[in-house]
Amino acid sequence: EDLELTGHEHYMRKEMLEQPDSAEAVIRGRLDERFGTARLDGLNLAPRELRGFRRVKILGCGSAYYVGQLGAQLLEELARVPADAEAASEFRYRNPVIEPDTLYVVVSQSGETADTAFAVQEVKRKGGQVVALVNVVGSTIAREVDGGIYLHAGPEIAVASTKALTNMAMAFAMLALLIGRVHDLSVADGKRIIDGLKAIPAQIREILGQEGEIAELAREIAGSQSAFYIGRVRGFPVAREGAQKLKEVSYIHAEAYQTSELKHAPLALIDESMPTVAIIPDDDLTDRNVAAAEQVLARKGPLVAITHPGVDLSHLGIRSIVVPRSEPELDPILLTIPTQLIAYHAALALGHDIDKPRNLAKSVTVE
Ligand code: AGP
Repeated sequence: EDLELTGHEHYMRKEMLEQPDSAEAVIRGRLDERFGTARLDGLNLAPRELRGFRRVKILGCGSAYYVGQLGAQLLEELARVPADAEAASEFRYRNPVIEPDTLYVVVSQSGETADTAFAVQEVKRKGGQVVALVNVVGSTIAREVDGGIYLHAGPEIAVASTKALTNMAMAFAMLALLIGRVHDLSVADGKRIIDGLKAIPAQIREILGQEGEIAELAREIAGSQSAFYIGRVRGFPVAREGAQKLKEVSYIHAEAYQTSELKHAPLALIDESMPTVAIIPDDDLTDRNVAAAEQVLARKGPLVAITHPGVDLSHLGIRSIVVPRSEPELDPILLTIPTQLIAYHAALALGHDIDKPRNLAKSVTVE
């Protein structure tokens, strides 16, 4: 049944719409409300081992790498452990230093991406400890690592990943919770994140309910040659993934920038023909994000904001996609959902083969 289109025109749309259920599946039985932590037995890491890691290095390719950037932010924010993400496809070529007190986390939907599997081997060859966030049970990467978290997103057929990416982000939040709680994250903060995670499936459903309006905006973007996606800090991985998804299925050139970098060059490209999708959450940087949006509009650049209730953009005279607020650390998970719908509906308007974009494969099993 899962493998059938069940009345949907495309797997990508079916898989986007499955997200409330698949996001529910990844947290099922894994949230420990009493102690404000996560139960991730598959990691095979005792609290003392978890506590011993002084750093986390995340490795993945493509969109999995971008979710890894979000994962690194979650780990730093919730666990206060230094963390960063790197493209697995580059990792082994720079003869990386593998540290015994670093936890290596690879992330892959298919579990078959060759570049990511080679990164696992590089870590293991040098005696490092590596765990994986993987969707496909029993896949090559799942078999090669010391432990992991299965994503339980169900089969993903469309080349453009959606529900698996959402579950990767949810899994990173749980990993950050677990590592946070063996460090200094309080029970109260742990519970706050748990409540946030539990609310996400219904909040995704709410965003998917705005598909009609988002499709309209997407059709406008579909008329362009090129687009910018901009966001800051937590919003930047959202912008990167948004640009990636648009390129992948609509073939429209899209670039992601930190909003703060606009003035350092890309602003030169803004005119009537260059739409910008701006990620403007309700956070400490809202005013700065709004100021950047004003700069785009002053140069006649069409602008779409993905924002939160309570962010007043009325003076800009633009159309916005308003997503529900989560806990601030989890906001990027919800802010990403409209970018999937934008990419899908732009591709649909252009008549592309959405589930099998040209030149791309679902899992890249060659180098
Ligand atoms: C995502 O939409 C892309 N198809 C692609 O970037 C993908 O995320 C990447 O190839 C990694 O795949 P994996 O998660 O199966 O390892």
